[in-house]
Amino acid sequence: MSNGLLKGKRGIIFGALDENSIAWKVAERVYEEGGRFVLTNAPIALRMGAINQLSEKCEAPLIPADATNNEDLNNLFIESVDKLGGKLDFVLHSIGMSPNVRKNKHYTDLNHEWYHKTLDVSAMSFHRVLTAAWKNDSMNDWGSMLALTYIAAQRVFPDYNDMADAKSMLESIARSFGYHYGKEKKVRVNTISQSPTPTTAGKGVKGFDQFIAYADQISPMGNADATACADYCVAMFSDLTRYITMQNLFHDGGFSSTGVSAEVLDKM
Ligand code: NAI
Repeated sequence: MSNGLLKGKRGIIFGALDENSIAWKVAERVYEEGGRFVLTNAPIALRMGAINQLSEKCEAPLIPADATNNEDLNNLFIESVDKLGGKLDFVLHSIGMSPNVRKNKHYTDLNHEWYHKTLDVSAMSFHRVLTAAWKNDSMNDWGSMLALTYIAAQRVFPDYNDMADAKSMLESIARSFGYHYGKEKKVRVNTISQSPTPTTAGKGVKGFDQFIAYADQISPMGNADATACADYCVAMFSDLTRYITMQNLFHDGGFSSTGVSAEVLDKM
């Protein structure tokens, strides 16, 4: 299905690790809609190799960048504009990682060095990305910059751990930087708050299977999957959403507005 919604648009997609990654599906859909882009990930993730297939399929140059390294990000934006033949129209930040979640540290007993790492990789990296694009004047007017987030930024999901704090910060960065991007460059900055989705990062959260089943039964429409999230990203990169900015946009089948559902009540 293609409507040419992104024909002539150029961008950067962060965070495609394997075919389950949300960023992978976004890359496929953006390509279908006529968008052209650079794919990027941390050097270690690129060495795993799966992303080469995606790069071939989407005719997308691959440029490594650690999203916690300003120099890498500056190079990435300069090289992307060069390789794609002009300034950019869209950026997807699809990056998350918590050493505390990985090592099963309880929230009441966090390793605070790792906590720094969680915040840097999963939240401050968005500030770094927005800054690199700003300083290199890499975005076209009416461009769109997006990051993916989760409702644990607003409500407690105990096993989401320090990632919840990172997501609150990420959403705040989208608002704060979105103000300046809107004023100076007519570029929009938003976060999409996605349903739980079975990916490498998602499945790293303790009790993920119960988590995803619970969300599915609460949401009137059921969980939104990665392909539907990719459709939403395409809409947000297109010219049809030019005045949506500084928002946290729930893409969750109605989960965020539902207190309880008949299915969950029946289990009590
Ligand atoms: P994923 O594991 O496929 O993607 C996470 C990506 O972050 C990987 O490609 C990884 O290589 C990259 N990354 C980690 N450290 C990095 C660094 N230093 N520099 C550059 N890239 C780095 O998992 P998924 O689920 O596709 O995650 C994408 C985004 O969606 C994340 O922000 C995640 O928190 C968010 N999200 C995921 C949900 C889920 O249930 N899977 C629900 C809501 C939001």
